[in-house]
Amino acid sequence: MADSAGHILVVGASSGIGRAVAERFAGQVSVTALARRADRLADLADVGIATVTADVTDLAAIGGVLQSAVAERGLLTGLVYCAGVQIIKPMRSFGADEVERLYKTNLVAPTLFAAAFGSARISTRDAVFCAVSSVAAQRPEPAIVPYAASKAGLDALIRGLARELAPRRAVGVAPGWLDTEMTQAHARLYGDAFKGELEKRSPVGAATVESVVDAIAFLMSPQARHVTGEILRVDGGATL
Ligand SMILES: NC(=O)c1ccc[n+]([C@@H]2O[C@H](COP(=O)([O-])OP(=O)(O)OC[C@H]3O[C@@H](n4cnc5c(N)ncnc54)[C@H](OP(=O)(O)O)[C@@H]3O)[C@@H](O)[C@H]2O)c1
Repeated sequence: MADSAGHILVVGASSGIGRAVAERFAGQVSVTALARRADRLADLADVGIATVTADVTDLAAIGGVLQSAVAERGLLTGLVYCAGVQIIKPMRSFGADEVERLYKTNLVAPTLFAAAFGSARISTRDAVFCAVSSVAAQRPEPAIVPYAASKAGLDALIRGLARELAPRRAVGVAPGWLDTEMTQAHARLYGDAFKGELEKRSPVGAATVESVVDAIAFLMSPQARHVTGEILRVDGGATL
């Protein structure tokens, strides 16, 4: 990220980590927030954040989305890719449409965002690409195998981008389970008993959205100028 004024695009900014990232950077740099739910982006506009209603699985539109954001607020100094889909069920129950949506959102779209981001017409030379991975990439569990595989691909993407897009940096964070709409949608699994167990397994306490945003803010900052290709685990030590 540039030292002074800058412009960060947050993809998947209507809730959870992405929304918190957009709110964190608002006031420090220009922020563009992208997601499908326009109603959930509306109050971000009230605090000066530019909003874009778009579906990242519309792959052909990605280049144009980036060009429009740059035309409105200037070259990107950072892009934080937070959009993600988690589907929890046994492998045998997955349909082709679900698998396609999951990989498009978690891996194909960030690949295309990164490809466009690498252009001098889209980002500055010191810009940072940051993506939200998951501890599942390194530890695939039953019932989330496609999700874990998509995040492992994302980790490889980040490490490859760090080499190919230099001097731009590419980094990631790998959170453990967090309390967001994504996990709340699986209330039968992610209930009080699960949260209690997670807390016990986490030597420094279970991670929070805020602690993940702190890690992203550090990785995007000049303080991390020699950190690239790194995916920082933020899980309170639960997967040690
Ligand atoms: N929560 C956890 O325990 C956890 C743990 C590890 C990693 N993560 C990762 O963290 C990231 C953020 O998830 P979260 O926990 O903050 O969940 P969340 O609150 O459900 O946020 C997901 C965001 O992605 C956006 N999104 C999803 N599909 C999209 C699409 N097709 N086009 C545009 N935007 C799309 C959603 O916006 P719209 O629905 O408005 O489009 C929303 O803003 C994900 O990549 C997830 O895999 C989460």
